[in-house]
Amino acid sequence: MNAIVAEVRRRGRVSFAEFMGLALYHPEAGYYTKPRPGPGPAGAAGDFLTAPTASPVFARTIAALVAGLEGALGEALTFVELGSGEGLFLAPFLAALPEPPANGTRRVIAVEAAEWARSRIAERCPGVEVVAALAAARWPEGAVVLFASELYDALPAHRVTVHDGALAEFFVEADARGDLCWRLGEPSAPEILTYLGECGLTLAEGQVAEIRPAVRAIHAGHLSWCGHGGVALILDYGHPGRRLYDPRARRGGSLVGYRHHTLVDDVLADPGEVDITAHVNFDDLEHGASDAGWERGELRPLGLFLTSHGALSQLPPAVRRGEPLTPLEWGELGEVKRLLTPVGMGADLKVLAQGRGRPWQAYLRLAAPPPADA
Ligand SMILES: C[S@@+](CC[C@H](N)C(=O)[O-])C[C@H]1O[C@@H](n2cnc3c(N)ncnc32)[C@H](O)[C@@H]1O
Repeated sequence: MNAIVAEVRRRGRVSFAEFMGLALYHPEAGYYTKPRPGPGPAGAAGDFLTAPTASPVFARTIAALVAGLEGALGEALTFVELGSGEGLFLAPFLAALPEPPANGTRRVIAVEAAEWARSRIAERCPGVEVVAALAAARWPEGAVVLFASELYDALPAHRVTVHDGALAEFFVEADARGDLCWRLGEPSAPEILTYLGECGLTLAEGQVAEIRPAVRAIHAGHLSWCGHGGVALILDYGHPGRRLYDPRARRGGSLVGYRHHTLVDDVLADPGEVDITAHVNFDDLEHGASDAGWERGELRPLGLFLTSHGALSQLPPAVRRGEPLTPLEWGELGEVKRLLTPVGMGADLKVLAQGRGRPWQAYLRLAAPPPADA
């Protein structure tokens, strides 16, 4: 029997958040725990595409941003990636990052829960400190850039609905044949009952929503680690709460699975073999920032964020010069379009930029659009 199904059976009934935790992070059978082909374009061996693997222009743009911040501050930064996977962002990012300013030593830290992925990062990215949890890394001495791509949408979420006027939670059970099935019950913890009300939101009868009451404190903890201030760039699928939980827009919630680049509706089927994700409520991250004494920040669609940080200057030279393109360059241009155009990934993925202190002021100056008459 599948080890995750066996564990659900052993526990009797688990909240969907517990199930999602097992399906993704079970010590032997979890989707992210087992070595597997990394993200990449459809047709490749993986299950889904991420922004860092869509085009090298993504990593080059972030590298230019970090170099710009170091230049503005006149000192080397500590760059932390949370949830690095196997280093598919870090490798091209490091290749594109210029030497740091003479003042200070640049540190690059990869935080990744999966052991096999940590080994891949160490092979791919020499010189990077690779740790299983941020708390295991030595505290930074100066400013920090904290970067995360699709970390929070891969954290376990509770699934709730309103049934006969009362909030109910979805649980998962194994039936007599060993198939997993849904059960509705009373919320498993007080914070599930109060979460939406504290955000000033209510669900309509029958509306389904995924919520992560724990994320606010998790994010505040990440930012607090930065100590002397810095900039956080959080890339994820999601919306502010008012939009995410609007019954007219998303009555059935945002929970989906991915396998071989195909949407999987039944996220309980074949656990450990399917990537499961639910949108982020960016309000959680804004509240987490306030709790940590950081600015709540600004949320932009990925395409707009990248172009406001000079992504167009990272395009292949022939594109920038308007010269005829080779088939390879046409291919590269197609990949970049995914990131920059205001449909698909360029619009659906968002970047939340937050900060504290001098690095945040420097960031805001870098992100500002040039004056119209410049
Ligand atoms: C959806 S993948 C994203 C990987 C990569 N950032 C990308 O964009 O391709 C999420 C990654 O976060 C890791 N992860 C999840 N929770 C974590 C935690 N608490 N600490 C460190 N890594 C975590 C998972 O093991 C997985 O590799």
